[in-house]
Amino acid sequence: MKVALLQGGRSLERGVSLRSGARVSEALLSLGHEVESLDLGPDLVSVLEQMQPDVAFIALHGIEGEDGTVQALLELLGIPHTGPRVAACQRSMDKSLSKYILREHGLPTPDWVTYSEAAIRDFGAASSFQKAVATVGLPLVAKPASQGSSLGVKVVTRVEDIPDALITALSYDSRALLETWVSGRELAVSVLGDRALPVVEAIPTDNNAYDFEARYEIGGASFECPAALEDAQTEEVSRVALAAYVALGCSGFARVDLILGEDGPMILEINAIPGLTETSLLPQAAEAGGISFEEMVEQILDLAC
Ligand SMILES: Nc1ncnc2c1ncn2[C@@H]1O[C@H](COP(=O)(O)OP(=O)(O)O)[C@@H](O)[C@H]1O
Ligand SMILES: [Mg+2]
Repeated sequence: MKVALLQGGRSLERGVSLRSGARVSEALLSLGHEVESLDLGPDLVSVLEQMQPDVAFIALHGIEGEDGTVQALLELLGIPHTGPRVAACQRSMDKSLSKYILREHGLPTPDWVTYSEAAIRDFGAASSFQKAVATVGLPLVAKPASQGSSLGVKVVTRVEDIPDALITALSYDSRALLETWVSGRELAVSVLGDRALPVVEAIPTDNNAYDFEARYEIGGASFECPAALEDAQTEEVSRVALAAYVALGCSGFARVDLILGEDGPMILEINAIPGLTETSLLPQAAEAGGISFEEMVEQILDLAC
């Protein structure tokens, strides 16, 4: 097949995307496909129209690549693409919207409050922080509604620290969440097609419990797959993750991030286009499920629509 491999882009996760793209390109070539790698730029549409690919493999992360922008263009051009379609991308990219949908489906996600920049700047929302604390409790986590790789995520232990944390989160997006901090084991469930892959656990290697960005830098966490869980826990975590994937309308693949706390699994977010580098969680989970990287790429391609 003639594959347009979309990688790079303008999001803060450009670097990860280039690494995902390089690994995917290698796999596609070894599978015998014809591959042309494209970065996002003003000529994207004309290049795609000229190339007439059979399918677009989207190895983009973050804004524009993962939020439905590129998917909408491809769907307009009639080019099948990998991963979730436009609406599912939009729902997953927006953590506040995702959580409302999860709640509507009776799926567990921590309590939260969403603040827009306008609410704080123009409507005096700052005087509601005490109320927010009454809703979500302390500690709480402040995070931008969209973004990835833990960018702008901060734990707040005192109400007077909320403004600073919100300013940080709002520097990444025009909306931010204050969410109940959940103590527990950090798990990720990747879904390929309609199958939940073995659960991955991120185990922090040092005492950086509150510094999530550091945790995901090399050496900040080690990953165990399959996670050492009881069968019933694995079953419950996988069930909830698969239900979240379905609730958001995902297809092809996605990764659901959860925390397994005292009250069972709590869903933090759904990533419509999870990392595809050698060290990323989806490839690790596939491997543990007996699916090689090449087989995984071929399956993702087969699921394109
Ligand atoms: N409510 C929460 N309770 C505890 N830890 C959290 C919570 N929300 C986020 N975190 C931590 O921050 C990391 C990133 O948060 P997440 O919501 O997955 O956003 P993203 O990965 O898109 O940056 C999580 O993997 C987890 O370590
Ligand atoms: Mg995450």
